[in-house]
Amino acid sequence: MTRATDPAFYAPLVAHPALLERLLRLYVKEEMEGAIGLATILTTLPDEAAPHFVLTTTRHCCDEIRHAGHFAAVIAELGGRPAWSGPETSILDAMFADLYHLPQRVWIASAPRLGIGDVLTHLTISWVLEIRAVERLRALVAAARRSPTTLVARCEAILADEDFHIAYIERELRRWRERGRGEEVDRKLAAALASYDRAEVAYLRVLEGGGEPGEAQHG
Ligand SMILES: [Fe+2]
Ligand SMILES: [Fe+2]
Repeated sequence: MTRATDPAFYAPLVAHPALLERLLRLYVKEEMEGAIGLATILTTLPDEAAPHFVLTTTRHCCDEIRHAGHFAAVIAELGGRPAWSGPETSILDAMFADLYHLPQRVWIASAPRLGIGDVLTHLTISWVLEIRAVERLRALVAAARRSPTTLVARCEAILADEDFHIAYIERELRRWRERGRGEEVDRKLAAALASYDRAEVAYLRVLEGGGEPGEAQHG
């Protein structure tokens, strides 16, 4: 168990509305960045992309926007401003830049048509993001059982969608393996996991309120 998957890490955040709001603002941003990334992928897919992949990815994109709405609604319940930007959210810009090897905004603005290999890269990064998000959300739910907000109910609705995301991504990755690209799948998964783990150290520091996001990005 890492700190991010330990309910004890979230207990003090849940107990203080200002800290919980900070966590939820990060989550709103993370969900929205996910949706933006998926929308970019959908509009730049190569012709070889299978129809079922286009349809599930479209559903996935819509789900992530709805998830951002759930977290924003809890921020509003806490009396906060349900925005998906704020100084602390810049940590996610660093995380996405590391995962995709370039700032996501640049990637979106100049998105070239993807190759089929890029689709595999996207699937492996998505798998890591989804798995880690589920682990973190389960720990948050365990810590937030007594929260007077709708947080737990909303997290449970989100988790049901995340289970679907993980299942369809795993199905896609299995197809890649069946086509003899298993080694490439493993290499890309390992790279995405390493990037995520680097980012998580800084991410947790921001949640603990240690240091400015700008300096946390390098820690
Ligand atoms: Fe999500
Ligand atoms: Fe998801």
